[in-house]
Amino acid sequence: MKKKIMSIFGTRPEAIKMAPVVKELENRDEFESVVVITAQQREMLDQVLEVFEIIPDYDLDIMQPNQTLSELTSRVLVKLDPILAKEQPDVILVHGDTTTSFVASLGAFYHQISIGHVEAGLRTWDKYAPFPEEMNRQMTDCLSDLYFAPTELSKKNLLTSNIKEEKIIVTGNTVVDALSETTLHGFNHPVMEEMNPASKKVLLTCHRRENFGEPMKQIFTSVIEMVKKYKELEVIYPVHPNPNVKAQATEMFKNIERIHLVEPMDVIDFHNCMKESYFIMSDSGGIQEEAPSLGKPVLVLREVTERPEGLETGILKLVGTKTETILAAVDELMTNKEYYQSLTKQDNPYGDGQASKRIADALGDYLKK
Ligand code: UD1
Ligand code: UDP
Repeated sequence: MKKKIMSIFGTRPEAIKMAPVVKELENRDEFESVVVITAQQREMLDQVLEVFEIIPDYDLDIMQPNQTLSELTSRVLVKLDPILAKEQPDVILVHGDTTTSFVASLGAFYHQISIGHVEAGLRTWDKYAPFPEEMNRQMTDCLSDLYFAPTELSKKNLLTSNIKEEKIIVTGNTVVDALSETTLHGFNHPVMEEMNPASKKVLLTCHRRENFGEPMKQIFTSVIEMVKKYKELEVIYPVHPNPNVKAQATEMFKNIERIHLVEPMDVIDFHNCMKESYFIMSDSGGIQEEAPSLGKPVLVLREVTERPEGLETGILKLVGTKTETILAAVDELMTNKEYYQSLTKQDNPYGDGQASKRIADALGDYLKK
């Protein structure tokens, strides 16, 4: 009899990173793949599902404007419960550190269903950074039965958390699998019509809860100062639809030349825009893992990162959220050519494009036991 694997996800980054896993499960006769989306992020999730042609079996459709973490938590738990009871999967798969991932794990635990955690073991060991993601992933790891750690360092973090070694499989990050498909295309976004073809593109994203308010103000100020100083730079900023982000971005970047605010891009556009950028400024998690495959330096707009592997190779630079420090890092990229070029030719420490296969193999082994 086929083993039933239920993949549960709800946000854009989870969908991008789970798409290659869902495809791999669908291609193997031994598994029945069931996809449940919480739609914690309605529009941004749908964009990804369309690109990867994933048709969910269940859609909880829970997103509300400016949702609080508690509301989100309770809606996921209550709406998922009857589906778990009815489907009784052999394993559920969750990804990373979102509220969907943690709460789906909690729901599965209440039904005594095995939990596989994809992208397990990332840590800052700082309860409030990133918030609430650090505790979401620690709590998900607490509840899981099978751990797909992207790197040796994430495995080490799990061992430190007293997880038994035989439950951990180092797979690489599935985002590298996704990139091999999305980057086959070119970048043809309408924003190109507003831009000087000779300019150097800087891609900006910013959405973390702990950056709301003053840190985001300092980040945006540094971007404004940067384009004033370096006339050859143009910034493309796909603005996250969170009202806390959107309000601040539209207010601060109003009428500033060479800063282009656009709607969230679909993942094919976004990855190809990364490919054409001179460098990237971001507080995103996933972008830190994608940039090394494309040889693009990232100024990481955070105080800490759970992805230190890229700091060691230099392709990521943790610049914090203070205007002065961010601008100093921009100056280094813009004035030191040798340094810039040394960053752009590197292997990706986060994966080799085979993670989904390793995950499917490991699930097969686990379910034979
Ligand atoms: C969530 C994740 C975060 C991840 C991010 C990716 C948690 C706690 N955090 O944070 O780890 O980095 O997603 O984007 O799970 N909205 C829309 N349409 C969308 C998406 C969001 O309108 O397609 C707006 C809604 O008003 C929503 C708000 O953004 O209430 C916040 O979305 P939510 O997913 O709760 O939080 P993020 O901060 O995006
Ligand atoms: N991304 C996208 N369109 C955008 C911005 C980002 O497809 O306009 C992709 C990006 O390539 C990465 C993922 O979304 O794969 C990161 O999502 P986000 O930054 O929202 O979340 P995080 O990774 O910080 O959890």
